[in-house]
Amino acid sequence: MSKSAASGETLYIQHFGNEEARSLDYYLKQMQGYTALKKAFGMKAEQIIDEVKASNLRGRGGAGFPTGTKWGFIPKASQKPKYLVCNADESEPGTFKDRDLMRFTPHLLIEGMVIGGYTIGAHTGYIYIRGEYTREAKLLRAAIDEAYANGYLGKNILGSGFSFDLTVHRGAGAYICGEETGLLNSLEGKRGEPRVKPPFPAQAGAFGGPTIVNNVETLTAIPFIVNQGGKWFASLGRAEKSGGTRLFCVSGQVKKPGLYELPSGGVTLRQLIYDYCGGILGDKKLRAVIPGGSSAPVLTPDEIDVVLDIEPLMKIGSMLGSAGVMVVSEDYCLVRLIWRITKFYEHESCGQCTPCREGCKWMKDVLWRIESGKGRDQDLALLLDIAENINGKTLCALGDAAAGPVLSFVRKFKADFEAHIRGKRCPHAP
Ligand SMILES: Cc1cc2nc3c(=O)[nH]c(=O)nc-3n(C[C@H](O)[C@H](O)[C@H](O)COP(=O)(O)O)c2cc1C
Repeated sequence: MSKSAASGETLYIQHFGNEEARSLDYYLKQMQGYTALKKAFGMKAEQIIDEVKASNLRGRGGAGFPTGTKWGFIPKASQKPKYLVCNADESEPGTFKDRDLMRFTPHLLIEGMVIGGYTIGAHTGYIYIRGEYTREAKLLRAAIDEAYANGYLGKNILGSGFSFDLTVHRGAGAYICGEETGLLNSLEGKRGEPRVKPPFPAQAGAFGGPTIVNNVETLTAIPFIVNQGGKWFASLGRAEKSGGTRLFCVSGQVKKPGLYELPSGGVTLRQLIYDYCGGILGDKKLRAVIPGGSSAPVLTPDEIDVVLDIEPLMKIGSMLGSAGVMVVSEDYCLVRLIWRITKFYEHESCGQCTPCREGCKWMKDVLWRIESGKGRDQDLALLLDIAENINGKTLCALGDAAAGPVLSFVRKFKADFEAHIRGKRCPHAP
């Protein structure tokens, strides 16, 4: 389900839902297809990096790292083969933007990747796509075949002397393979376990070579930046440090859930929920919002005047993450919700780090004890203690992703937990 939002310029959403948009013919005629690539071949790598820096494009995969800076980390002198990897794992609960980008605008991604490969000196690219996206993997492969047949991929692309091969690699349904080094291990045929960093992928990534890992939405921004300039892209955003538009994935109890493309830093959470999504289903009361995928600490109704951007959300102790906004009404039990989220992290923990492997299970068990009416007075302190012992103490951020939400739910909605413990039942249970 995709929704267009008439506020500022949009790059993608007008194509979502249009099956023709995925053809090369449409891309060439309606979307200035592959003109950015031609322009890029006339530019030096440093110039492209400067444009990407000027665009204020920040990674759309969750961490929000500036893309131009990341590309600049690739060691030019390295003799090892370099790689560009697209992270299409999209497994953060509440996130469904990359799916539509691949489904309706696959050539944007391909063009963005060839330009990225040219810029960092990579001749091989991979799109690591989540296993469940069977249809999108098929569509991407078809678009890649079209690009090869028309000289946009392969040897000596458009006579530039630059060659680039692109392969779709399907994951097998593991959240941890969205973490960039877990992804690289999986790509290499190993267990999808995150690596110790440093070295970071830009130094030693896929098969030991310098590697850039970027999210789908990050890479689909590149053709626009090259064609219209970094400054223009930056001006699409309303925040000093965040350029372009953002695709917000809104789910939960709102009247009009779906995808909304809005200027970066251009709207508050309240505007998104009430002006764009039509408010809460059945005109019920808002109870809570998770603003950036299930890893993002929860917000209360009196925190929704926050601007939906990286810094403002960080300032109030949450995060924009993958822009998966989950809206919860008064009808839903928040203890059940955080138990369900924690069950997900317990299942997806790769098990390498003890705090995450053991702690996620403990948190899940204690949360279920409370939800099922067997909670004890000391359980809230116990939950906080376990979460504190996971937070920041694991190799990758899955530990933080599991602990942060528990800490925020228990601290901000303590009364809900206490009501379960006192009443020895879930107040929402029939
Ligand atoms: C547990 C975990 C899961 C992640 N899952 C994804 C994912 O599904 N897709 C994604 O693009 N990034 C995901 N990330 C972030 C990546 O590690 C990485 O930061 C991102 O691919 C970098 O691309 P960007 O700079 O374009 O955002 C995940 C991170 C963690 C810690």
